[in-house]
Amino acid sequence: MSAQLINGKEISQQRLEWVAQKAAERREAGLHTPCLAVVLVGNDPASAVYVRNKKIACEKVGFKSLSYELPAETSQDELLKLVDELNANSEVDGILVQLPLPPQINSQDVLERILPHKDVDGFHPYNVGRLAVKMPLMRPCTPKGVMTLLEAYGVDPKGKKAVIVGASNIVGRPQALEMLLARATVTVCHSATQNLADEVAAADIVVVGVGIPNFVKGEWIKPGAVVIDVGINRLENGKLCGDVEFDVAKERAAMITPVPGGVGPMTIATLLENTLHAAALHDKV
Ligand code: GUN
Repeated sequence: MSAQLINGKEISQQRLEWVAQKAAERREAGLHTPCLAVVLVGNDPASAVYVRNKKIACEKVGFKSLSYELPAETSQDELLKLVDELNANSEVDGILVQLPLPPQINSQDVLERILPHKDVDGFHPYNVGRLAVKMPLMRPCTPKGVMTLLEAYGVDPKGKKAVIVGASNIVGRPQALEMLLARATVTVCHSATQNLADEVAAADIVVVGVGIPNFVKGEWIKPGAVVIDVGINRLENGKLCGDVEFDVAKERAAMITPVPGGVGPMTIATLLENTLHAAALHDKV
């Protein structure tokens, strides 16, 4: 039997409507309009598309957005200076520096310069640490979006075996912390993992974020598992595909996210939820 498709487009739309409603309530209450500053360095075409989509989403929900497009040869000091200005700008609630950054810039130095309560990506070690000690403040958008999808489809990770494939700072590591928070038994697989197929085959919930098309084979999936594919890969024929061999996996899984239309739209919706949260924190200071 073919798996139920997890419709990230639909759930993200519901989340965006909820955020728009909260933004309207803020206006009625005389509170300031949430404002997201997005910084893009260089001309990576995929990053440019993501940044444009983030700006469009801000407009849709009634947020303000500021955008900064800097040349590829921008120095680290110049970028840090901009971050300092945005930190000090009382109009700005959230700051997002699009990754990857050009090689002359140390991404971690930049992420650590963003004030934790403006860190809507949740990448600052302060926010990662808070997630690790069960006291989340800003939660990384993609893993949080995955948890929202699971909840929307009635999948409770408590007591389940969750296997995360990929240990990046953007997806795998924070996803493992989210699953732990939700009381799953968590395994994180990475490039040194032996017998990946066996690890995946034991999973009730599999989350894959490695950036390699069809990396996880459909036949590894345990019958009845929930499969969350975070990968967005562009093939030579121009089509998008995920990190999971979808056609085979969907015949074994109980539920699966398609690519596109699965996790992707949730990341942006969650970014706006985080910006709303940042605005609420800002109200208090
Ligand atoms: N590049 C790919 N994903 C992300 C993300 O979630 N945030 C930022 N800032 N850059 C990214």
